[in-house]
Amino acid sequence: VAIDGFPLPTFRMEPMQRGEVIKSIRSWTIRDDDILLATAPKSGTHWAHEILSMLHRGKAETISERFTLLEATTEQEFASAPSPRVLTSHLPLRLLPDNAISKIKIVLVLRNPKDLVVSKYHHMLGMRSYDYTGAFKHFLQWFLEDKLPYGSWFQYVREMEAIMDTEPDRICMVHYEDLKQNGIEQIKKIAQFLSVDADDQFCQAIYDCCSFENMAVKKLPPKDLQDKIWKPGCSFYRKGIIGDWKTHFTVAESEMFDEILAQRMTGSKLKFRFSDRS
Ligand code: A3P
Repeated sequence: VAIDGFPLPTFRMEPMQRGEVIKSIRSWTIRDDDILLATAPKSGTHWAHEILSMLHRGKAETISERFTLLEATTEQEFASAPSPRVLTSHLPLRLLPDNAISKIKIVLVLRNPKDLVVSKYHHMLGMRSYDYTGAFKHFLQWFLEDKLPYGSWFQYVREMEAIMDTEPDRICMVHYEDLKQNGIEQIKKIAQFLSVDADDQFCQAIYDCCSFENMAVKKLPPKDLQDKIWKPGCSFYRKGIIGDWKTHFTVAESEMFDEILAQRMTGSKLKFRFSDRS
């Protein structure tokens, strides 16, 4: 299904039905204490959601419950969820509930786009529903041409940056790479932004509980569901590292990517970190 010319995954419903639901999301009723967790796919959505969930629950404890993306829910499920709700979505601003952009707090997670495209490649290779087996070089081209599910990463990031420019107090930006390397500080920053009491010990406990190793074991769906969704050995928890792009990109691809990134992000103040060191 495509909306505004960009392709969307179909999730649990038939494509046409899902398309109708997504078109209706703009009119869904937002509550003042809702929080939007906004991410482009493969930026660390599951990780960030787990952190937000622990901050809200006031407990550094992994629960088996998993989140559903806003675009994969129904209006009824959305309306009946208890407050405070974390609305987790990859949708671009123009498809989100109207008030989400002008009213509620937004936690935005960004990831360097080279690791993101590699992660997305494995996502599509691994998920049975895509039935995909292509080569990385073609996949990379699709990414650069905005042809992958959810459309243009560049546009998504630029639109989010525009909110940061106009309303910096309503948006908390977290980089995946900072969460990896400076996680406790980042968790403190998010807690402060959400006005949640969280001392150093609690932030450390959340950080430990949300480690890749812990989540990769404890946050998997039940085995039958996991096997239905993913090919053997695949899941949302793949490597969880910075710099895996180096094992996928050729030097020429990396240079081309840098050039296109520079062009398409002209005027942007965002800085992405592509390795552990820089
Ligand atoms: P990789 O494919 O590079 O391993 P999303 O949740 O947005 O789909 O993002 C998935 C990516 O985040 C995957 O990246 C996944 O391994 C990584 N990830 C998930 N949980 C993580 C965690 N606790 N720590 C670090 N990375 C994590």
